[in-house]
Amino acid sequence: MSEFLKILENEVQLVALAFMSAVYVLRLLWMFRFKAPQDFSYGVGSSKVGVAYSMMNVAMPWAMESVRRNWSFYFQFVIFHLGVVAAISATFIIPYWPQLFDVKVVVWIFQITLAAAFFVGILRLIRRISKPALRLISTPDDYFSLILMTSFFASGVFAVPNKHTAGEWPLIIFFAMTTFFLIYVPFSKISHYLYYPFTRYFLGKLMGHRGVFPRKRGGEKPAGLDNEKALTK
Ligand code: HEM
Repeated sequence: MSEFLKILENEVQLVALAFMSAVYVLRLLWMFRFKAPQDFSYGVGSSKVGVAYSMMNVAMPWAMESVRRNWSFYFQFVIFHLGVVAAISATFIIPYWPQLFDVKVVVWIFQITLAAAFFVGILRLIRRISKPALRLISTPDDYFSLILMTSFFASGVFAVPNKHTAGEWPLIIFFAMTTFFLIYVPFSKISHYLYYPFTRYFLGKLMGHRGVFPRKRGGEKPAGLDNEKALTK
């Protein structure tokens, strides 16, 4: 393996990861400067249950109306994010655990997942460009993040066999994209996964306290509302 690829797969990644982590820490410090709002409304539900429900919501497709109406969108979401997991894992497996990609089945599983995520990325791009309502609310970053992830998945398909003796270009492209991705992500919508736990926590706390979370079935009332009299106190 060339010295250039060795450094790109290791030192360059570590520097880019350190940069991304530093920006995330700064963002979290900035975020925690703001005092959490206090809810003065009468509590008819449980904040704890609300937080748990809200955190798990992304794994409870039946609980989201948008999914109940369009299951294929949820499956796209899952495939796309499995691709994210496969691509990010590969950036660590190739330099630090290359033996794993000597196992043919593992390489196939990664390639199939990345290829499926690539096609979902293309579908999403067509959807975002072709739907006027979506175009109206899309920022350049919405397009760029999708194009970046979709091409990252494609380069991952060619990189995971890790055959640098046959040619280093697939690995050079994959790790050059990883470097760019690690520097760009903290400033893009992709950093949604950093904020995800916090937004879900505050939403769950509020909606749980007010008895909105967990979702109620036909006519079911939040526990605290059963005792009507309590409300008239
Ligand atoms: C805790 C981890 C994460 C959660 C809970 C999460 C959740 C979501 C949700 C709910 C959406 C919107 C629904 C959708 O478009 O399907 C979304 C979209 C997206 N996510 Fe994530 N995500 C996570 C991690 C990531 C990571 C690590 C990346 C990339 C490195 C990523 C990239 C994207 C992109 C590019 C989109 C937009 C897709 C589009 O425009 O159609 N996500 N994510």
